[in-house]
Amino acid sequence: MTKIVNSWNDFDPLKHVIVGRAEHSVIPPEEPATSEKVPIDSEMRGMWGPRPLETVEKAAAQLDFLAKTLEEHGVKVDRPTPLQWNQHIQTPDFRNDSMMTCMPPRDILLTIGNEIMASANSFRCRYFEYLAYWPLMKQYFDEDPEFKWTQAPRPRLTDKSYKHNYYDEQISLEERLERTANKDFVTTEVEPMWDAADVLRLGKDLFIQHGLTTNRTAMEWFKRYYPDLRVHAVNFPGDPYPIHIDATFVPLRPGLIINNPQRRLPEEQRKIFEANDWQIVDAAQPAHDTPPPLCYSSVWLSMNCLVLDHKTVICEASEVHQMEQMDKLGMNVIPVPFRDAYPFGGALHCATADVYREGGCEDYFPNQVEDPTLV
Ligand code: ALA
Repeated sequence: MTKIVNSWNDFDPLKHVIVGRAEHSVIPPEEPATSEKVPIDSEMRGMWGPRPLETVEKAAAQLDFLAKTLEEHGVKVDRPTPLQWNQHIQTPDFRNDSMMTCMPPRDILLTIGNEIMASANSFRCRYFEYLAYWPLMKQYFDEDPEFKWTQAPRPRLTDKSYKHNYYDEQISLEERLERTANKDFVTTEVEPMWDAADVLRLGKDLFIQHGLTTNRTAMEWFKRYYPDLRVHAVNFPGDPYPIHIDATFVPLRPGLIINNPQRRLPEEQRKIFEANDWQIVDAAQPAHDTPPPLCYSSVWLSMNCLVLDHKTVICEASEVHQMEQMDKLGMNVIPVPFRDAYPFGGALHCATADVYREGGCEDYFPNQVEDPTLV
């Protein structure tokens, strides 16, 4: 019997992965969920349309090089089938002038054991992104009799899914930080909404970031859908745009996590890690002061690395401080240039989705303490 799909965490030996594609990528028009995402001073505010062709070509070349590097390290690589993302879309509940990309599969596909689930994203422009992965899902379904091909409940994304006038041009960075620290986000709780990149998988435990892209109702949904797993709600005050956990809280191997020093996990949320001898260390400073042009993400993509096994990690080739820290933490580093791909949806972890890692569903947190994160 062929086993194709299996992954319970981000650090056991990686054998099969999906690497995204940049072709046809679009900067989507503003919509209720994304107006919060684009920083006020960003050159991207108000801009939309197909991304410049030369940037697409550069990103595609770096994505191809990542795929080749992975193959050289014994990892099988699959690629999605991009759609023409520059199309108007419509459902019974909303219309949008374009879609976006299939560069960051991590946002869309969540692999838990023998199941890959397509997410319930809150951005209207991402509503049909899962289609780019359907050919691969069908292939895994045909080849692996145990593979569970799943789509999470689809959000309707009507106007009720968002707080209105949440975004205000006048809001200062301090006010924005206060809001995110108070868990006041643009999405409402009328339905579960979540991006797969907000879910950190550690065997029996899922740590899910409550932020701009994932709401509390989603966590309640996860708890019921996976009754054998423990679901934890975490949040990271200090991040003015809390979107996706993988430039904030990144496990390298059992017992070790690097945490963005500007977005530290609050003290009371650390209890479960402390009680189980996990070390949470500050990530190294990024090597760059600014992200590349037309990029939504922050300079902290520096820590968005792809772990191949407990001793090997792929880091972005110019992130000298992060690579040095990895070395000190006992990791062998494979440098891969990737900054041209950042604007299309992130760094090395974002750009991939797990299909197969060795290992099973371990309990890394056997000592249960009073844990305010438990949903
Ligand atoms: N939202 C993450 C960051 O930009 C990816 O830091």
